[in-house]
Amino acid sequence: MEKVLVTGGLGYIGSHTAVVLAQAGYEVEIVDNLSNSDLRALGRISELAGREVKFHRLDLLDEKATDRLFEETKPDGVIHFAGLKAVGESVSDPQRYYQVNLGSTLSLTKAMAAHGCRTLVFSSSATVYAENPVQPLPESATLGAANPYGRTKLMIEEILADLYHADPRWQIAALRYFNPVGAHPSGRIGENPRGIPNNLVPFLTQVATGQREYLAVFGNDYPTPDGTGVRDYIHVMDLAEAHQVALAYLTKHGGHHTWNLGSGQGHSVLQVIQAFEEANQIAIPYQIAPRRPGDIALYYADPSLARAELGWHTTRNLHDMCRDAWSWQRNNPDGYNS
Ligand code: NAD
Ligand code: WQD
Repeated sequence: MEKVLVTGGLGYIGSHTAVVLAQAGYEVEIVDNLSNSDLRALGRISELAGREVKFHRLDLLDEKATDRLFEETKPDGVIHFAGLKAVGESVSDPQRYYQVNLGSTLSLTKAMAAHGCRTLVFSSSATVYAENPVQPLPESATLGAANPYGRTKLMIEEILADLYHADPRWQIAALRYFNPVGAHPSGRIGENPRGIPNNLVPFLTQVATGQREYLAVFGNDYPTPDGTGVRDYIHVMDLAEAHQVALAYLTKHGGHHTWNLGSGQGHSVLQVIQAFEEANQIAIPYQIAPRRPGDIALYYADPSLARAELGWHTTRNLHDMCRDAWSWQRNNPDGYNS
């Protein structure tokens, strides 16, 4: 395995993974349509990697252009991050989510098959799991997404399973991420949401800069130890490293696999606030607000399969995630415009 195409590689998780792969010696080429990313990330990725990372501006929905890209670049494998990810938007505009997430995967896998590239790592999500009173969640837990975004992830997992069934020369890994947060420790790349952040840590870091007045804690009456929602936060660098390991595993062993990527530990919203305050010595004003519709109380990963099969586990803790998220936000309060 020499050359890897990273779709959505200018985005949050893709940019960190591109750095890790390029540093590990892969020839990395990024494909992105810039719908939720900034071209200015590219120079920083190359700078952190210490080598050039090539970029192709392309919409994967364009089948002809995607096919041409494979003709030109001839990658050995693909990591597929590209897609839309805002849960609320997927509820109000489901057609767009099905079209972009399913359409781009179909266009991609079609071009891959046509050019004999059958090694694929796909960004799935813990959101594919049904609400479950039994925690932690192993890969075998009951599936059932609660919104159109999650259903696109489930459907894509099924499409990929069918591809493998039809032609076992495919080498496929579906990685189910829990809650990715944090940033590269350099503070040069990080999460760059457009508009008001939906997710906890990006919102919290904007409160820390003073861009937002206070953090609304969505509910403190959940059946959890302190009443606030519990999630399995994972440092984006641990996540990025898991992609490198998964790719190496596929190249060596082949097959079709599904792995949870999480720390195996749950943390509440109040614990995240406290960890952030301690890591960065900044007080975070917060107010208890009503529950956010669609949220569930608690879930976290059983990551033991990834540990057993990939030899991968997280090495960074909540303190590290809060420190690095802040380092990125402090240095880049307005994202790549800063
Ligand atoms: P992101 O939005 O930062 O990155 C996605 C990238 O894909 C963006 O750069 C966007 O411009 C690009 N893109 C979108 N549609 C495209 C298309 N049609 N053609 C080419 N490029 C396109 O998101 P992220 O947080 O880095 O997430 C990466 C992947 O991981 C997504 O598939 C997401 O669903 C999945 N995921 C994310 C999380 C999370 O909390 N961030 C959790 C679980 C799974
Ligand atoms: C975390 C906790 C909130 C914001 C989402 C997607 C999921 C996956 C990861 C892609 C919850 C609370 C949040 C705020 C708060 N993405 N919260 N105040 O909802 O677990 O997962 O991102 O696959 O599909 O749904 O992440 O960061 O939004 O919320 O109190 O301003 O923080 O209620 O308990 P979530 P989150």
